[in-house]
Amino acid sequence: MSAVLDAGTAGAASAAIPTPHRSIATEAAPAVPAAPTVAIVLLGTGVVGGALLKLLNTPAAARVRLVGAANSRRQQTSAARLASRSLREQLNNQGDVRDNAALLAALDHSGAAARVIIDATASTALASQHAQWLARGYHVVTANKALAGGELAGWRALQAATANGGRYGDAATVGAGLPVLSTLRRLRLCGDSLLTLEGVFSGSLSWLFNQYDGKTPFSALLREARRLGYTEPDPRSDLSGDDVARKLLIIARNAGFALGSDEVVVEGLVPEVLRELDTGTFLERLQELDAPLAARHAEAASRGCVLRFLARLNQRGHARVGLVEVPGTHPAARLSGTDNQFALTTTRYNAQPLVIQGPGAGPEITAQALLGDVLALS
Ligand SMILES: NC(=O)c1ccc[n+]([C@@H]2O[C@H](COP(=O)([O-])OP(=O)(O)OC[C@H]3O[C@@H](n4cnc5c(N)ncnc54)[C@H](OP(=O)(O)O)[C@@H]3O)[C@@H](O)[C@H]2O)c1
Repeated sequence: MSAVLDAGTAGAASAAIPTPHRSIATEAAPAVPAAPTVAIVLLGTGVVGGALLKLLNTPAAARVRLVGAANSRRQQTSAARLASRSLREQLNNQGDVRDNAALLAALDHSGAAARVIIDATASTALASQHAQWLARGYHVVTANKALAGGELAGWRALQAATANGGRYGDAATVGAGLPVLSTLRRLRLCGDSLLTLEGVFSGSLSWLFNQYDGKTPFSALLREARRLGYTEPDPRSDLSGDDVARKLLIIARNAGFALGSDEVVVEGLVPEVLRELDTGTFLERLQELDAPLAARHAEAASRGCVLRFLARLNQRGHARVGLVEVPGTHPAARLSGTDNQFALTTTRYNAQPLVIQGPGAGPEITAQALLGDVLALS
């Protein structure tokens, strides 16, 4: 990462990206490192944002310059402070008050050919600004699903904004960068179309049901998953199925199904009585999840099946998320760890689905997906 402002290119900011200058090494004029071509502002310095800050300090990010960083309370635009290895910690008690306009100004003054806002938050308020930023000539790279996987009007605004040349890097929103959205776009470019989609889109729910054998109580597994950092601090965020529904919406919309957020049927795992509790009380009452799930498991096992938390989209655009019995021969029955799985049946991948599978959560790979989208702009 470079956090040093380079002179000579100020005012050249534009959505168009020039071919990088290549210097030819001669005795008279030794090669000099090429100037950074991408200026970025990082919103969110939590688990994913923190991992991205580390990646920015590697040679892979040599052409990327960090000109601003923020958490929910503070921000920093000073080049010297942005270059600090303890930037993330410093933002907890040092820096300017939050003001997006100052961060955008830092991008404008960077002189870089491409100006990118990276959203590594889960903030709906920030996501609602993605389309405006794109319309103003910034590129947006995001791990935040709240716009593309939110209300249909937001998705439509996003489509309109990207039609003007702004690029929307969304690899990190689904499968933590597994090549799902890029593959889908490539297939569509070739005239192929998605017919059905099925899979396990949540690392935490994958792990829980890959482990669950009906003997260890589900609540004990859930506590373990939380301890390992596989779930959110409040595991209801995972168990509700809402995050899986957002990912299903993002894939379906990218495949041409203009689904509203209320068109995904979500069968969550949190009983009504546990939904409104504070986190601490919910965690004390986790064992209330055990009996219903044990009954579902026993029924499935009596038919030679296992339980998996699946997302499904059928050919008529019906979308559903929830717990499903699958036979041992089903691809999802053979998953392990926190793996995600996306099985795409298309016009041309028809006899057998195209299956994309692998780790679908984790800060390093998610940060890498963000960096990959940034580098694609240079
Ligand atoms: N963790 C993963 O493996 C993973 C994988 C794929 C996608 N994601 C997605 O990546 C995003 C970030 O996840 P995470 O695990 O890094 O979450 P996290 O650890 O909770 O971090 C969220 C960060 O966002 C900041 N933030 C919130 N509102 C903000 C605002 N208005 N302006 C600037 N910063 C703001 C928070 O600031 P404070 O510290 O001040 O609260 C915090 O630094 C989420 O959308 C998540 O769904 C995560």
